Amino acid sequence: MGKRGNSIIKGLEISEIITMLNKAYADEWLAYYQYFIESKIIKGIMKDAAIVELTQHAADELRHATMVADRIIQLGGTPLTHPQAWFTHANCAYEEPKDFDVVAILNDAIKGEQCAISVYSKLADMTKDKDIITYNMVSSILADEVEHEEDLQALHDDIADFITDLKKCVQ
Ligand SMILES: [Fe+2]
Ligand SMILES: [Fe+2]
Repeated sequence: MGKRGNSIIKGLEISEIITMLNKAYADEWLAYYQYFIESKIIKGIMKDAAIVELTQHAADELRHATMVADRIIQLGGTPLTHPQAWFTHANCAYEEPKDFDVVAILNDAIKGEQCAISVYSKLADMTKDKDIITYNMVSSILADEVEHEEDLQALHDDIADFITDLKKCVQ
């Protein structure tokens, strides 16, 4: 833990930032695994397009987990060391895929992204003008999560439209 680096944090307890970052860290691992497993089990129409998206998102969530872990360590904390702690610390629910159809999978993934956006938006509010480094990091992750939601929603809508058109054609 760099003393001068941490001395520039104003009006926030470092322990509180570490606690919040560890919760986000748990979210990232669960999001990573959700995307990983969804990309394997997904079925149905246009699933190849969805697999590309889900695989890219999995890589992004793992990269976020790395960024958050590095910042926790820089602040003098320890990232969660046991996967069981992901469930007790996470802000967002793990949306276990039960229906493997592409539309259901995309709906689950969109829910996850909406939760991530709320989490990072809260973290950005909390650190703004107080902890510049964490603020910059959470802002950059927030931009990724907003893009993730948009990508998934656009794909979901394309597939839903395609199915509607297809139904009209076969009637
Ligand atoms: Fe993420
Ligand atoms: Fe995401």
